[in-house]
Amino acid sequence: MLTTERDVDLVKIAPSIIAADAGRLAEEARAAVDSGADMIHMDVMDGTFVPNITFGPWIHKAIADAVDVPLDTHLMVADPDRYLEDYRQAGAEWLTVHIEATIHVHRSLLRIRELGAKAGVALNPGTSLSVLEPLLPYLDQVLVMSVNPGFAGQAFIPEAVGRVETVAGWREQGGYNFVISVDGGVGPGNAAQLRSAGADFLVAGSSVYRQDDYAAAINALRS
Ligand code: DX5
Ligand code: ZN
Repeated sequence: MLTTERDVDLVKIAPSIIAADAGRLAEEARAAVDSGADMIHMDVMDGTFVPNITFGPWIHKAIADAVDVPLDTHLMVADPDRYLEDYRQAGAEWLTVHIEATIHVHRSLLRIRELGAKAGVALNPGTSLSVLEPLLPYLDQVLVMSVNPGFAGQAFIPEAVGRVETVAGWREQGGYNFVISVDGGVGPGNAAQLRSAGADFLVAGSSVYRQDDYAAAINALRS
């Protein structure tokens, strides 16, 4: 039985707010939702795990208060356990940590679920998929990075398609129900391929926020 999050007929589009106009974040989040976005992807960056710095829980909460769709929070921070509660309280419904950023990822995932959020793990393009093997029963989301994290507007790394296929195969074999997200350089040129490889959530920064018509951009990712 498929959970509602993994509806094989409909890919979910999660525009990434860091590609939006930083001076109008709440408006931009609302505009994406009004244009058909299913979630807003929140890129939290600390300047240590990734070279860039974005926002803390107080900005996150302001965006959570501005929209009525789930926030898909991607913690690109070192030792993310320090912040799980803060971002949950700031409105994160999906909380995803990088396996490269935490020593005790199993404990992080249990803690996220304890906080009532959906637990996700993100893998950089250079991280072997084998790290997922002991975690599969504890996951609500696997986030396959298709760029090296830190910035919007980077080129898509094509090996991500095969990685999605592999993870989708493990999901099938094991009868798991976690969703597979792809994040970085996702656009109309690769969305259909990612969907058929098994992706459920497509994170889209520039392919939505750097376009004039957000609704057309979101529809282009769904078709
Ligand atoms: C990169 C972030 C991505 C990125 C997506 O570190 O995790 O979410 O902002 O932006 P695009 O779609 O422009 O690559
Ligand atoms: Zn992201």
